[in-house]
This record gives sequence, structure tokens and C-alpha cells, in this order.
Amino acid sequence: MVKNNVVEQYSKYVMTTYTRTPLVIVKGKGKYVWDDKGKRYLDFFPGWAVSGLGHCHPRVVKGVKEQVEKIIHVSNNYYNVLQGELAGEIIKNSFPGKVFFCNSGAEAVESAIKLARKYGGSKRYEIIGMNNSFHGRTLAAITLTGQKNYQKGFEPLPAGFKHVPFNDYTALEKAITKKTAAIVIEPIQGEGGINVAGKAYLKKVRKLCDKRDILLILDEIQTGLGRTGKMFCYQHYGITPDAMTLAKTLGGGLPIGALVAGSKVSEVLTPGTHASTFGGSPIVCAASLAVFEAIKKDKLLKNVNSVSKYLFKKIAWLKVKYPDIIKGVRGKGLMIGVVLKCPGAEIASRALKKGLLINCTQTNIIRLLPPLTISKKDVDRAVSILDKLLKTR
Ligand SMILES: Cc1ncc(COP(=O)(O)O)c(C=O)c1O
Repeated sequence: MVKNNVVEQYSKYVMTTYTRTPLVIVKGKGKYVWDDKGKRYLDFFPGWAVSGLGHCHPRVVKGVKEQVEKIIHVSNNYYNVLQGELAGEIIKNSFPGKVFFCNSGAEAVESAIKLARKYGGSKRYEIIGMNNSFHGRTLAAITLTGQKNYQKGFEPLPAGFKHVPFNDYTALEKAITKKTAAIVIEPIQGEGGINVAGKAYLKKVRKLCDKRDILLILDEIQTGLGRTGKMFCYQHYGITPDAMTLAKTLGGGLPIGALVAGSKVSEVLTPGTHASTFGGSPIVCAASLAVFEAIKKDKLLKNVNSVSKYLFKKIAWLKVKYPDIIKGVRGKGLMIGVVLKCPGAEIASRALKKGLLINCTQTNIIRLLPPLTISKKDVDRAVSILDKLLKTR
């Protein structure tokens, strides 16, 4: 009843920029969401990793509730207590430097692009991105994104971007010129199909950047905040980026983006060169501080690592059982791609009918980004649904 109304309103009044799954979500709690008919779904793709702690996490809810009564917005020409606190928390958990706050991943990437341009100056303006990457939908972010389908129809694109194959050091080294200011890499390509950067590769890229005075910028918008079993994915690699971008789980469901600039570049963007009206508002900072608190106090990194091992094992079991359907599995922590030998959209839509939310990317990769709070029992439930689906395929 409600559903028809909602869909009708969307078709009349909301721009059709999304292919929407026919599901009206009215409630969320932890690993579950409920639709308008009261049906419950186990969410293994909570808000594209935005609700990385699960839906309406009690610490996030408490933080937001307390803050909303005090003050909702403080403009950035004044100080707000929580913004400074959150920046400190991010820096203490990553590398020395400073943080710029905005409202989304794409804006964080834009900020990183501006930082690189400002650092490089008028002669060193080129930025190298990776094939198959994804960095968001603003004009510069789609230009940095190494997938033509996101750029089509928006030409002419801004100048100064080029792309090389992911994990190919020789190609990257060859692409560098006197004009190169920065290299941008997702340590694990999310939308591109859960492609994991090699350890030796990233270490060599770090060295190359040091030698040529090129900024190494990591896009940790999907991989950040515990998703891969460490607070930030780069920490698996024994390297430190010059800057990184964050969003998604950082806000615990609220819109936030952040550019974290290491000490070498933390003073590059000066008053008047960059800004965001809403960036780092007290409400989102309260939510974000609660995310850090939950990751630490609830020992979520430990949980991610132990549940991850279990989930990988279970998928390996499915692979043995369905060798004609499953080709392989890859990823780190709870950022997992199941590579299929067939299109995955149909499997995702059948999973939905059976009460499991998952995603398909790059036509044949089932992407799983379950909440960092899930248990082995939740994994059993999800795998049992997948097992039933694959049996009848
Ligand atoms: C790695 C990465 N960068 C940037 C973005 C863009 O973020 P947003 O949609 O918040 O602008 C995304 C979104 O999926 C992403 O996964």
C-alpha cells in the first residue's frame, strides 16, 4: 500500500539517476532492515558500506541524540568542539597531518585533486589514476575514475588526468612525466570488482613517489574504518600515503567526507582556497566519533578478522560445491568479491527475495560488505541462503 505510493512519488518527482531495486526500506537495526510490509532482510551490503557498523548503531544514535539538542550546525568561520576532536581521532589512528571535512566521498576526492594541483603548481598538474577505479561523480572525480562509462556524455573532461592498469608498476613508471603531481589508488578497488593492490606493488609505488616528489594519495572511502581488518587498509602494506580520502563508514550513516593530508602537505590548502558550508558539522562529527568509539571499545577489528576468516572459508566451500558457477573469491577483511562464471545481477535479485541484501558489480562479481559487527551465525545464514539459490540455478 505504502510502497505503490512511494514508487509513484519517485517516478513523478525524483530524478531518475538510479536503477532502483523495488524495495522500500522503512526501518533498520544492526544487520537487519525491514521493508514497508514488515519483511526483514539480512543486510550484507548496508548502504554501500555507509552503515558499516550496521543500521542505527546504538553508540551513533546516542551521540547524535545528545548533540542534536545542543547545536546542529556551526559554520566553519567559527570553532566547533567536535570537529577538532574528530580530526584528532583520525590523525591519532592514521599518520601525522591535518584533516579537511566535507560531506561525501566525491567531495573528499575533489579536495585531494585540488590539494595535488596546488602542491604541484602550474607546471606539475597531472594526476595518474588506475583503470577500473571509482572515485565518485563530480566532474573531476569521474575524470579520475578509470572507467569510460562514467564519463560518457560529460565531455570535454578536465585536462590533466591519465590512467594506467592497476597493479602494473612498469606501466605506472612509464606514465610518469615532469608534469605528474600525484598518483591516486584505491588499495582495494571496490566498484571495480574487489581488486586488491599487491603489497610489493604499493611499496614500490611509495618509493617511486618519494624519489620523484609525487604525492601518493590513497582513496580509502570504501576500505577505511575497519572494513579490511585494520583501521585503514594502507596499514596492511607497511607504507604511509601522503594523503587519503575517507567517507562512507566514517559517518556511521550520516553524510561526511574527509581529506587527510600528511604533514608534508597539510598546509597546502590555505584560507580561501577550499571550503565546505556543511563540512564537519557537530552532528556528523558526533556520529563519527561514535564510530571510532565503537570500533575500539567493541573490539570490532578483532571481530572483522575472525568473521572474515570464517566467511572466506564458507565461500571456498560454496566454490567446491558449485564449480560451474563460482570462479574464485578475493578481498580482505569484510570487503569480499565472489567472482562468478555467470552474470551476478540475477543472483542478487533472487537473494533479495529470500531476505538477503547483496550487490553485484562489474556484471559478475558479488560484492559483500557486511557490517563490521556481524557474527559467524549471520554468515551461516547468508551462506545458507546463497547455497539454496545456487542449488536451484
Ligand atoms: C573508493 C570510492 N571513492 C569515492 C566514492 C564516492 O563517494 P560518494 O558516493 O560518497 O561521493 C566511492 C563511492 O562508492 C568509492 O567507493
